[in-house]
Amino acid sequence: MTTQDTDVAVDSATGSVFEMVSGVWAFKTLAAAVELGLFGSLAGGGKATKEELEAALGLPERPTDLLLAACTSLGLLDRDGEHYRNSALAETALVPDRPNYLGGAVAYVESRSWRGWSRLTEALRTDRPTTWVPDTQDSPFAAEDQEMLGRFWSAMHNLGRSTARAVAAAYDLSGHEKLLDVGAGSGAFPIELCAAYPGLTATCYDLPHIVPLTQVEINQAGMGERIATVTGDFIADEVLPGGHDVALLAAILHDWDEDTGRMLLAKCHDALPPGGVLLICELLLDDDRTGPPPAALMGLNRLVETERGRAYTAAQYRSWLLDAGFREVTRVPCKSPGANAVLVARA
Ligand SMILES: C[S@@+](CC[C@H](N)C(=O)[O-])C[C@H]1O[C@@H](n2cnc3c(N)ncnc32)[C@H](O)[C@@H]1O
Repeated sequence: MTTQDTDVAVDSATGSVFEMVSGVWAFKTLAAAVELGLFGSLAGGGKATKEELEAALGLPERPTDLLLAACTSLGLLDRDGEHYRNSALAETALVPDRPNYLGGAVAYVESRSWRGWSRLTEALRTDRPTTWVPDTQDSPFAAEDQEMLGRFWSAMHNLGRSTARAVAAAYDLSGHEKLLDVGAGSGAFPIELCAAYPGLTATCYDLPHIVPLTQVEINQAGMGERIATVTGDFIADEVLPGGHDVALLAAILHDWDEDTGRMLLAKCHDALPPGGVLLICELLLDDDRTGPPPAALMGLNRLVETERGRAYTAAQYRSWLLDAGFREVTRVPCKSPGANAVLVARA
């Protein structure tokens, strides 16, 4: 290797590492802009000068100048002469009330999960979550976790609806009539899947203190006639609600250890008729566990957020599914923030 080659390798190494360092700055820029309402203030093709944005956001000149430069550099704003506008990306994903709005997820990471991630080394050393305290509550989904209840659901709902639309496009549900969403959370998946497939009705199954939140979202979506709610506990209940020809586990298995995952798959198998279908939607690790980064980083996110969760591979789920009695396991690619594949298994 020549000195020049070494210099190029060093430049590329330091550049790559510093890109990761500034990834934190990029996220914090995004989070501050969302919290200040920057993208909402420019919604619908609106434009404003720096001075107008100083007034609208209530910020002094220097921070406004720096924030606008940072947001423009990140592709969140476009600059046209003296005016700033939302970029197409910001207009799609960062304007409140838009169907693909991800501001809730940004706010959740900023207000809660960021604190846990700032203690990642502690989570790595202790193998304990850092966003909540296992000594004082059973799980991050416990009723007493008011912060979680307040923030998590709007984040999950944003992310879930966006992911569910991608799942609806990736996997054809027109042959199904009744969906059981196991751990339905805000009901994002049934709402989007029923909207995409007029012949589908759904049941949202979740913990008793979550289901009222689910009901609010179902009502707001005008889906009360087609989506029912049932309270339950998929760990404690021996059987899951029957009468469905398709069941869904979206962002569920990665919260638990292998034994619990296998138990959930067995309960899903028992709840489905022969020929019924189970869908698993989440960010799956490659079978050799080398990526992709969203799935691998979601794995660490399970470390800071859960006691036993981790990122799993399609090969792991395939083997658990076959052991639970499922057959014909197929993997359907899907490009979305919350799932890179749908695993489809027949009971
Ligand atoms: C990560 S959220 C996923 C929500 C939803 N599937 C989605 O993708 O938008 C996990 C869900 O599992 C639910 N859950 C956790 N433990 C449960 C249990 N023992 N019984 C039923 N639901 C449970 C939580 O309340 C929460 O709604």
